[in-house]
Amino acid sequence: MNVHKPVSASSFARRRASIHPLDHTGGHALCARLSVFMPTAGQIARLMDRAREAIPVPLAANQTVQRVAAANPDAFWAIARRKQRADIEPPEPRGLVAMLMLTAEGVDALLCGRLDARNPPHRFLVGQHERPAAIYGWLIHARGSLAPGLSLVMDKLQAPLYRGVDILCRASTKDGAAFFDALGFSRGVWWDGELRGEFRHYRRSHEGAGSSEISARLRAPFDDRGDRKRRNAPERRAKASIVHNFEEMQKVFAIRSAVYLEEQECPFGEEFDGNDFSGSHLLASIGDAPCGCARLRYFGDFVKIERLAVLRRNRHAGVGKKLVTAAVEFSRAKGYRRAYAHARKSILPFWLKLGFTQLADAPSFSFSDYEYVEVIRELEPAPGALELGAGPLVLIRPEGQWDRPGVLERSADRAAN
Ligand SMILES: CC(C)(COP(=O)(O)OP(=O)(O)OC[C@H]1O[C@@H](n2cnc3c(N)ncnc32)[C@H](O)[C@@H]1OP(=O)(O)O)[C@@H](O)C(=O)NCCC(=O)NCCS
Repeated sequence: MNVHKPVSASSFARRRASIHPLDHTGGHALCARLSVFMPTAGQIARLMDRAREAIPVPLAANQTVQRVAAANPDAFWAIARRKQRADIEPPEPRGLVAMLMLTAEGVDALLCGRLDARNPPHRFLVGQHERPAAIYGWLIHARGSLAPGLSLVMDKLQAPLYRGVDILCRASTKDGAAFFDALGFSRGVWWDGELRGEFRHYRRSHEGAGSSEISARLRAPFDDRGDRKRRNAPERRAKASIVHNFEEMQKVFAIRSAVYLEEQECPFGEEFDGNDFSGSHLLASIGDAPCGCARLRYFGDFVKIERLAVLRRNRHAGVGKKLVTAAVEFSRAKGYRRAYAHARKSILPFWLKLGFTQLADAPSFSFSDYEYVEVIRELEPAPGALELGAGPLVLIRPEGQWDRPGVLERSADRAAN
């Protein structure tokens, strides 16, 4: 998305996002004289010409934008400022919000670099009255006092047709990036387990809303709870997510009991070593059935991945790889630069295949009747990795779900004592 961000627009966004993220309508007092409406083809051309003067990157041609808006008028909103509240005709619009209402194929094309945003093919876009798989913020140009008009456009996206549909965008300028940060967009978009760092994501598809198939594909590997709406065709793929409650923790203990206590005959006190409340746990499942787990503990500048276990009947099907990948990506999202593990000597090739290397000059060692070696993998922190300054309400979101408002943000709607 190309955004021209005048100072007042970003301060509006920052002020608003610190209390209400994009999806919570608010700031309407600032909108009293603003009108948001579907413009004529001529108004679209004039709005695009003005945007082109202010935005230093090539934009789609007027005819292309007119074509997209004609096929789906919800894709283009004009913002105008009335002189008087009671003016019947709004004056010439000076601001715009343009969106691409994408099909599932369009989302895939966008995130895999196959969609030319300057000339989006018709087949990647849904028509009016059709629910998009995701909405791509194509262009915002709303200077100064027009910026609050974005709230009014968001109201349009609260209609049942669009409620719960995720919004994706790409900031093409530094100011645009700051604007999206302030509005609560998270950096990077997960798509089929790969992080597309150049995009941003405003997740609205949680809590059962949105297309479950698309939202499952838009999940981080450590936050993959699958396609919950599938009823008739149970999911066969493995998914992994961070443990958030005692029931999930019981599943982890059950898997480790089967693998370590029973299969490897590890004494109870060695397997349950007193460190289970000092880190995070990942649980892998296929459908509702738990099948694997891993534990992460945090040290100054590295994460230790341990207690990796996959039920015997689920082995050699990629579950172990999924868990280690999830652990690595989770560590990158937290900003870590190193992951460390003790690899059982006999399964060292498993770790090497996952990008780990054996720690040089380190002797092997043994515990619980098996021989181990130290392995390590250098990491690049993820785009938008957590850091001081990420925002107080972001840092208190549930672990691994930093890309969407958490329960404590919703509690912030209640007045503080
Ligand atoms: C080790 C373990 C977690 C692997 O889980 P898994 O789900 O079977 O592994 P995956 O199917 O994801 O395998 C990923 C890759 O590693 C390879 N691999 C898996 N197990 C391996 C083994 N024992 N030795 C060598 N390579 C192995 C696979 O062939 C696969 O390679 P590919 O990507 O080229 O096909 C599982 O066997 C297990 O739980 N073992 C008992 C507990 C244990 O020993 N944990 C490890 C402590 S360090």
